[in-house]
Amino acid sequence: MYSDKVMDHFSNPRNMGELEDYDAVGKVGNPVCGDVMHIYIKVAEGRISDIKFKTMGCAAAIATSSMVTELAKGKKIDEALAMSRDDVAKALEGLPPAKMHCSNLAADGLHKAIENFLAGKRDGDSEDEIKTQLAQKLGIGPGGANALWDAGICDVDEVLRLTTEELSRIGALTDGQKAKILPRLHED
Ligand code: FES
Repeated sequence: MYSDKVMDHFSNPRNMGELEDYDAVGKVGNPVCGDVMHIYIKVAEGRISDIKFKTMGCAAAIATSSMVTELAKGKKIDEALAMSRDDVAKALEGLPPAKMHCSNLAADGLHKAIENFLAGKRDGDSEDEIKTQLAQKLGIGPGGANALWDAGICDVDEVLRLTTEELSRIGALTDGQKAKILPRLHED
């Protein structure tokens, strides 16, 4: 099911752990399975001088996190921002279709870390700020926002990028809340 590269990065993850003196962290979550990734970066002279990840997730989630840290290390900020999910999947010699969307969040985590760095927000938005954004932008009220937060969601876009099928599988949301989110999904 997995390529040798995926298995290698899963079995011997590169740059795993937490950077204590990080300049910014990006958190991303997958509300379908509840997995969460943290990407920590240090920036020196406009480049990613150090990077680590902490991921609670499946084999593919760990492999994509590991690969993103390898690809980003030493890159200029704008080059790292230009890296896409596809670049990560290609470097891993492909991901199974079912895992392509589910696990391939690491590039988003890297982008979020860089955006937080550029905004001068080391830890990004606070829990309260994120819950308020979820409740207002998705129209699901505080109850729905809490449910998504508990499922690992750290950003409105993480919800909007879900497929209809993935949305239907989020057990934490009521049918009414899902119906409010459905028309807003980007659907690729
Ligand atoms: S099962 Fe959660 S990211 Fe793969």
